[in-house]
Amino acid sequence: MQDILEALEARRDTARQGGGEARIAAQHAKGKLTARERIELLLDEGSFEEFDMFVAHRCTDFGMEESRPPGDGVVTGWGTVNGRMIYVFSQDFTVFGGSLSETHAQKICKIMDMAMRNGAPVVGINDSGGARIQEGVASLGGYAEVFQRNVLASGVVPQISLIMGPCAGGAVYSPAMTDFIFMVKDSSYMFVTGPDVVKTVTGEVVTAEELGGATTHSRKSSVADAAFENDVEAIAETRRLIDFLPLNNREKPPRRPFFDDVAREEPSLDSLVPANPNQPYDMHELVRKLADEGDFFEIQAEFARNILTGFIRLEGSTVGVVANQPMVLAGCLDIDSARKAARFVRFCDAFEIPILTLVDVPGFLPGTGQELGGVIKHGAKLLFAYGEATVPKVTLITRKAYGGAYDVMASKHLRGDFNYAWPTAEIAVMGARGATEILYRSELGEPEKIAARTKDYEDRFANPFIAAERGFIDEVIMPHSTRRRVARAFASLRGKSLQNPWKKHDNIPL
Ligand code: HXC
Repeated sequence: MQDILEALEARRDTARQGGGEARIAAQHAKGKLTARERIELLLDEGSFEEFDMFVAHRCTDFGMEESRPPGDGVVTGWGTVNGRMIYVFSQDFTVFGGSLSETHAQKICKIMDMAMRNGAPVVGINDSGGARIQEGVASLGGYAEVFQRNVLASGVVPQISLIMGPCAGGAVYSPAMTDFIFMVKDSSYMFVTGPDVVKTVTGEVVTAEELGGATTHSRKSSVADAAFENDVEAIAETRRLIDFLPLNNREKPPRRPFFDDVAREEPSLDSLVPANPNQPYDMHELVRKLADEGDFFEIQAEFARNILTGFIRLEGSTVGVVANQPMVLAGCLDIDSARKAARFVRFCDAFEIPILTLVDVPGFLPGTGQELGGVIKHGAKLLFAYGEATVPKVTLITRKAYGGAYDVMASKHLRGDFNYAWPTAEIAVMGARGATEILYRSELGEPEKIAARTKDYEDRFANPFIAAERGFIDEVIMPHSTRRRVARAFASLRGKSLQNPWKKHDNIPL
């Protein structure tokens, strides 16, 4: 018996060594952790339970039968993050460059199927040379099996992708269909066709980092939700994100102990909005002052910075925040911000996360770039996402809510449950000056008259009370009491039940 146990241990040791010492050293030399080191950091200590450690490929072409390393280039299994269960796969670059074979794909599919059945998130750690070239179409089939599961799992369990090495060609489409993508600066990249192909086809000369690095994807393409300095930071932030998320779509978001007075008053908020309506202020300040312990997990912080999206907790429960940011483009909505916020709202709605919307929006950004880029359809995404969302929705207008953007930003008319305004709110079809210039076009040559008209318009319309008279605003609240008011609103909505009419699925303007 002892021999048998020792033989098992020896087999396990071999599997744990992956591609061997030299390749592990090469991995470390690139500043990257190994597949197993990443899992160890991601999961609670000692919680990892591995599946399929001895799976080996079945390829017999190109001399592959000579080398059948156990595990086949991916480590899979489950474990816990702060005591809550997740499934994980981690591609091992030290084994055939982490390339995906038929059996490698089967291992990933197995844990994805289990995650869907058992209702726990999937974290996929990508570090791979792509399709296992020796296997040809068997590998492509393997990818498609994974893709199909990404689709089926979408909206059922949270899916998070960490890109920690190469991820190229069609392989990018698995992370692309997950809920969140985190990348590591300088050691990861994602592109459909790499710099060499780009040069051949279009003549453009570009580095891998410029074409598909973490900075590119988190700032320009919006493919990635965040970029981190190294593997350790990316994994630590993944754990932090998981703490905010429910395990599946049948569960309420987690409720954590909190150490922050829910009635905490913030006198500084009474002067957050500057007296001059054209002067910006940082919406982050409001988000942090509302949140339990000031903790805000921002999603896509570097992209479309005119809107903020991310998670906070109120009384220990997760709340998704969408907030116009007056510091960037005066907080206008545009193509990028509408797409960013729409996707976030849909994630929250799919996973029963209540949504807090903080509004200070002068309207949609004008310009040919926007119109020719399809701002009509892209802006509609956000409108559609809010309109279909059935989760608790609390909205606070801090300052401007002009025109169509007033409607879009979780207004009462889109089934907002609580619609609050600060006394500084200005809810109108447009700003006073623009309105006056249209209404009194014949007086445009007389600046004094126009100034008086503008002042009159401001006095009459640049406030929240006309909307409040109609019940479009439920209550005009004191800025310093916002945390208490908003937290109580969400607390009162914990039993909310609202269904949309039956349909196979909607047809959101993509
Ligand atoms: C089999 C692969 C492999 C692959 C790498 N390796 N990619 N083996 N299939 N796709 C092996 C290498 O042969 C090498 O083995 C080891 O992994 C490490 O690779 P290196 O090239 O030494 O590493 P590095 O210099 O860091 O370069 C990494 C790389 C490069 C940029 C990823 O390996 C590369 O270009 N690989 C091919 C990428 C590719 O074209 N893949 C197919 C894309 S199409 P040894 O034994 O020498 O250490 C695709 C379609 C997906 O993926 C379709 C989905 C629908």
